[in-house]
Amino acid sequence: MQIVQSTKKLYRRLTWSWIPRSDKEAGDAIVKNILLHWFPHKVSKGSISWWYSLWLGTMSFVLFVILTVTGIVLMFLYVPSVERAYASVKDIEYVVSFGWFLRAMHRMSAHLMVATVFLHMVRVFVTGAYKNGRSVGTNRPLNWIIGLALLICTLLLSFTGYLLPWDQLAYWAITVGTNIASAAPIVGEKIRYFLLGGNTIDQGTLIRFYVLHVFFLPVILVSLFAWHMWRIRKDGGLAVVDREALSQKPEQVAPVKSKTYSLLGITNGTTVHVQTRMVNEEENSLPSVPNLSRRIWLVTLVTMLLVMVSSIIVPTPLEAPANPSVTPNPAKAPWYFLWLQEIVTDTTIKLGSFTLNGALVGGILLPGILLVLAIWWPYRDRSSINATGVWFAPERKRQNLIFLALCLFVILLTIVGTFLRGPYWDFYWPWEAWPTTPIRF
Ligand code: HEM
Repeated sequence: MQIVQSTKKLYRRLTWSWIPRSDKEAGDAIVKNILLHWFPHKVSKGSISWWYSLWLGTMSFVLFVILTVTGIVLMFLYVPSVERAYASVKDIEYVVSFGWFLRAMHRMSAHLMVATVFLHMVRVFVTGAYKNGRSVGTNRPLNWIIGLALLICTLLLSFTGYLLPWDQLAYWAITVGTNIASAAPIVGEKIRYFLLGGNTIDQGTLIRFYVLHVFFLPVILVSLFAWHMWRIRKDGGLAVVDREALSQKPEQVAPVKSKTYSLLGITNGTTVHVQTRMVNEEENSLPSVPNLSRRIWLVTLVTMLLVMVSSIIVPTPLEAPANPSVTPNPAKAPWYFLWLQEIVTDTTIKLGSFTLNGALVGGILLPGILLVLAIWWPYRDRSSINATGVWFAPERKRQNLIFLALCLFVILLTIVGTFLRGPYWDFYWPWEAWPTTPIRF
């Protein structure tokens, strides 16, 4: 009994020790605290359940915060010049106290963020959370599209950071990545020139990637994230709220409530109206403080712990300095683009004098088609409002299966590209040795 009591006390201390004595005190806490200010006063029980959202969106944002904090410290130590970039990273790794840990945390959070944002997108799809439900005046498809922009932003942030150590891994991954982009018809070469700031990867590229990485992309990501969260508020909460409204008996359903918002009073024309039938507040919702605040803090602690432990366990690579005249074999794109590199290689077909350009298929057409499909999907999904905010709704079974099969395909190709491809992109099992001098006649 004593142990249970002490564990409870410790849990409260670590997570959220302050418990409001009344609803009014809980509401006041939000109004008075700048960090809590963006919370709603109350949240529905379903939206703070561990098993609905899996908190992957929150984890993604915590990872972004870790990246920002470690990134700011790294900016004091890193020099974005071709002559000094590699040496400054080497100093961070071997000379600066705990520099290796700082760099490892930054790198690990970046990899984890790509993975969690992807998983968050999968969760949103299979719960049908991009669909409007019973509430009136919501625009959830728009938030899905903002999410897609966030995904692209996350990938670009990671890609631009990849070049900064200026080692062989960085140099050749960016070479492969930007070569794929150059396969676009007509504008391909121009895109490559624009990305590199010239015809070759040089000082112009490094400074371009650096400025994008430390300023423009983070600013865009923060702005999109703010919009993403604002939309959730305007949509009356997470999509599961609509589900909860459906499960209520007609006599329990509160009369339609209409809330009117205008952005700082400066929007003109129509304001956004949110009408929700869900809010049988007493039964279905809890005060945000401490219920939501404690969970967010717990997710933050667990994410930080995960990043710290994995940064200690997993080594952070730093290869030989970038050397444009020594091409590694194989030269691989960053892992999250390896599924595309795999398709690029597999679809490069030579038939006599005719060559099907794999870079065009895998690098431009396929990602382009997938993006257009993803934007269009919420508008073509004709399933009923019963399928909004529900894990694996039977009505959406077919589309969930197709989506999951596609995701599995991407994951499989990524695994093949990462672990099973050797010199000349030949296939090797993990236990097979690569030839020491890969020569092909
Ligand atoms: C940097 C990337 C992203 C961040 C930081 C982020 C953050 C969040 C957070 C904190 C939530 C609240 C629920 C949760 O924790 O899961 C959320 C919900 C949502 N996100 Fe994201 N997100 C990101 C990317 C995406 C992507 C790639 C998509 C889809 C393409 C997406 C679509 C949505 C939608 C539709 C919701 C509402 C879900 C619901 O109502 O159940 N987000 N996001």
